[in-house]
Amino acid sequence: MTTAETSTNDTINQDSDKSTLIIEGKPYEMPVYGGSIGPSVIDISRLYGQTGKFTYDPGFTSTASCESKITYIDGDEGVLLHRGYPIDQLADQGTFLETCYLLLYGDLPQKSQLDDFEKRITYHTMLHEQMHTFYRGFRRDAHPMAIMVGVVGALSAFYHDSTDINDPVQRDIASLRMIAKMPTIAAMAYKYSIGQPFVSPQNSLDYSANFLNMCFSVPAEDYKPNPVLSRAMDRIFILHADHEQNASTSTVRLAGSSGANPFACIAAGIACLWGPAHGGANEAALQMLEEIGSVDQIPEYIRRSKDKSDPFRLMGFGHRVYKNYDPRATVMQKTCHEVLDALDLKDEPLLQVAIELERIAREDEYFIEKKLYPNIDFYSGITLRALGFPPEMFTVLFALARTVGWIAQWREMIEDPSQRIGRPRQLYTGPTSRDFIPVDQR
Ligand code: CMC
Repeated sequence: MTTAETSTNDTINQDSDKSTLIIEGKPYEMPVYGGSIGPSVIDISRLYGQTGKFTYDPGFTSTASCESKITYIDGDEGVLLHRGYPIDQLADQGTFLETCYLLLYGDLPQKSQLDDFEKRITYHTMLHEQMHTFYRGFRRDAHPMAIMVGVVGALSAFYHDSTDINDPVQRDIASLRMIAKMPTIAAMAYKYSIGQPFVSPQNSLDYSANFLNMCFSVPAEDYKPNPVLSRAMDRIFILHADHEQNASTSTVRLAGSSGANPFACIAAGIACLWGPAHGGANEAALQMLEEIGSVDQIPEYIRRSKDKSDPFRLMGFGHRVYKNYDPRATVMQKTCHEVLDALDLKDEPLLQVAIELERIAREDEYFIEKKLYPNIDFYSGITLRALGFPPEMFTVLFALARTVGWIAQWREMIEDPSQRIGRPRQLYTGPTSRDFIPVDQR
């Protein structure tokens, strides 16, 4: 930092509804807003106008970027609520489409509302026939996430009648279309990569069974989705449905703040999710368990994960927000056992490695002191592989499930009267003004 104009004794004194920020000895009053739960926020939106200074918060670790009523996380307590409902209750007792309704409309649906919602989703699962041609433009070995980014972005070219963001009816249709079509798009990306024919959606199947059918059935024989596996798939979708203002959700909101159409915004979210620091960790956790291979190797990997000169980290452990057990990991662990039991894979060696690794790490002073607990990705890789998905599909499944969260957050933003285009500022440390010199004189 080249200039630090703010004196070191600058302080924030907070009372119930305002804070006084003292900069260079001069006090500035900032409003403080309390949420329904969780930390309150200091409104610094007029800071620049009043003081000529910006705040500096790379990675936004202390910045609330918006007001939201959708998802609440208490990382210290290991709590995740969607519209007030704990994630474990939604996953144990609800369905993914109920969670979708809840995220989109704010309350759990009545039976008739749920029936109607399911019908509307089912009605929108097919893709425009022309999109089949679009798929054929990709190389067969394209990563399915590359296909997802391209195909979802292309939806705006196929569904012109739902791109007017100022029309609430069009916003709703675009939302339902994306939630409905995402399993079809994802399954087609998978089928294309393995050279099998696309499978049409089946209206007689529920959301998750239909997805498994589109992924795993072939014309040569009958396929009946196993109800235990369909339920597990549904629960995995619930666990990934939303997670507050994470990187991909913030990407969707930022893209949407310019007035971009919803399909383009969700494609931007998928692009962000693709990164290994966000959606790719479940694949890395599975690779790590495979690399460890057997229980007797665990102490060596625990030792390496604590060695600062070794880049190795325990994948599926630790979280930026959760400094306690990730509540999604508890459900995922249970789901993992259910899937392996249903498939008669109870003795799966990777599961034994995972269980023992978790036990040892949770008794280890290093992990206790740094509050490193298993996160959702620790057991999801084993589970998804057992369900039959290759690792390249793991992030695709995450994108499929997270689509509803992105859409709910995008809608909330569009409906917020205080919404403005997102436009962060910067601390400039480049060259100061200088004159252009023609190339022959440089
Ligand atoms: N194994 C060993 N040490 C770790 C680990 C780990 N998995 N995670 C953090 N640490 C240590 C780290 O070395 C640091 O030690 P020190 O204070 O001595 O320098 C301390 O714990 C704090 O780590 P950090 O990197 O400053 O924490 P962060 O909040 O920036 O990173 C994280 C969070 C998730 C990126 C990190 O814990 C990590 O790399 N975990 C493994 C990857 C993983 O499982 N990611 C999936 C996250 S869940 C997905 C989702 O919710 O979308």
